[in-house]
Order: sequence, then structure tokens, then C-alpha cells
Amino acid sequence: MSERIISLSNHGEDYHDRMAALFGSNKAAVNTAGNENIKRALAKLRHDPSHEMRVLAIGSATGSIDEGIIDTLCEKYPKITYTVIEPVASGINAFKERVKSHGGKWSGVTFDFLQQTVEDYLDQRDELQKYDIIHAFQSVYHFSDLRNILVTLYGMLNTHGIFLIRATGGNWEACYLKIGEYYHDPSYHFIGTQYIKKLCQSAIVDLTIESYYREISVNVSDCFNEESIDGNKKIDFIFQVLNFRQNLPPERQQIFLDFFKNCCVEKNGEMMFNDVEEDVVIIKSK
Ligand SMILES: C[S@@+](CC[C@H](N)C(=O)[O-])C[C@H]1O[C@@H](n2cnc3c(N)ncnc32)[C@H](O)[C@@H]1O
Repeated sequence: MSERIISLSNHGEDYHDRMAALFGSNKAAVNTAGNENIKRALAKLRHDPSHEMRVLAIGSATGSIDEGIIDTLCEKYPKITYTVIEPVASGINAFKERVKSHGGKWSGVTFDFLQQTVEDYLDQRDELQKYDIIHAFQSVYHFSDLRNILVTLYGMLNTHGIFLIRATGGNWEACYLKIGEYYHDPSYHFIGTQYIKKLCQSAIVDLTIESYYREISVNVSDCFNEESIDGNKKIDFIFQVLNFRQNLPPERQQIFLDFFKNCCVEKNGEMMFNDVEEDVVIIKSK
């Protein structure tokens, strides 16, 4: 039986602090590669430009990732309805400010902001709306009944619609799964894209899935120096545990650090870790 823990994602400010430590100077490369993948995914849409494009965005936070999606869609579709589900008020407010700052550029987009969780959204609707694009970027970890929610969302897609799920993949997912063998957080799943794809494939028949990867090599040598402030922040983000070195028993820490070391490669005397983020693109062909 795994032990209960509060994952890093439930510690707002600390989450962002730890993320900044890991990505630091790589942030621009991370964003550029992620945006390119979004463009590749949206290029799959075959709708006529006269079609009113309906989008459901789940867990958008401040809308920084949505920005690239909206810009790309606006290039082809003059009429867009964009519904945002985000439980945190500060995220919604910042997203609204972002919309204002774009002025006329997004004039063809009608926004609907819903401050709620996806669970509440699905529970409260007698008749669920249909969408051409549903996306969940780095938010599926929080969905309570993941399997049912993914199946329900897929069912809400119009024919030729796409469901975009961005999450952690590769060795990083392996680290999440490892920590999930020992700990659980009822409001967070320690999972990644392999897990999500398997879940979708087992729950939905005739699924068409494509994947786009964004890989960035990050220097994690300082993670193996327990005195390093930055290294400890990086470890927190990699395992999604706040103050990993203070909060986990030493013997457990060793298990996870040994596992992590095996996920790294040594290059010119530095330990490098491949940060993999995968965009899973599920296309509804019928
Ligand atoms: C890691 S952030 C991702 C933000 C943004 N999509 C991105 O990729 O940068 C996860 C977001 O999911 C939201 N969230 C958490 N639980 C949720 C739920 N049950 N339903 C919908 N969104 C949720 C959080 O408030 C947060 O804004």
C-alpha cells in the first residue's frame, strides 16, 4: 500500500520556483519546440475555414500555451468559440487580461471562461456540448477518474476533431511511475504519456493516435550534490515532491536517486537528463 503525500503541483509558488530551477536558460527552447508541435497537431484539422471552430481548453492556467493555439487557429478560422475550464481564479483573471492585451487580433474569438474543474464541468452539464478541439496541456495528472474523463471527452469530439494531451514522457515518466509505486496523492496521478496512451487504447476502440515529442537535455549534475540549492529544487520538480531531501526518508531517497541516476547520461563529466514532453494527438476519424 503506497503512502499518501501532497505532490509539488499542490504547492503553487513552490511549483513555479522548482520549475524555473530546472528549465532556467532552456525556457525559450522549451516554448519554441512546444509551439512547433502544437502547429503540427493543428495542421491535422481538415475543416473548411467557414466552419465555426469550437475549442475546449482544460486547465489553461494563465493561457500562455493557449496563446500559440489561438494565434494558429486565427490564421485559418475567422470564427472561433473558445471555452476555458480552469479552477484557479488567478489563472482565469490573467487569461482574461491576456485576451484584452490582444485587442483586435483575436476579435473573431468568443471566449467563455468557466472557473471550475473538469469534473464539475462534466457533472453539471445534462447535455454535453460538442467540440472540434479539446486540449489538456499538463493538466491530466489532476483528473480524478482519469479513464472515464478521457472517454467522456473523446465522446464530446465532433467527427474529424482532435484531442490534444500534453504530458511528460520518456525517462521522466519512468521517474513519476517510480515515485508512484511508493506514494500517492488523491488529487494528482504520477503518470505520463505511455500510461495515458495505454489507458486510451484500452478504453476507446479504433483510436487514431499520433505523437510529437519535445526533448531538451538538461544538466542535472547538481542534483547529486545534496548541498546544492538549485540541485535540490530540480530534484523536487523531477519527482514532483516538495523538499524531497527533507521530507522523504533517506532509504527511499536513495532508491529514487539511484533510479534517477540510471535515467541520466554522463557527458563531458556532467550528468545530463532528457526532459521529454509529449503531445499526444488523438484524431476522431468517424
Ligand atoms: C501544470 S498546470 C498547466 C497549465 C498550462 N496548461 C500549461 O501547460 O502551462 C495545470 C493546470 O491544471 C489546472 N487543474 C488542476 N486540477 C484541475 C481539474 N480537476 N480540472 C481542470 N483543470 C485542473 C490547474 O489549476 C493548473 O492551471
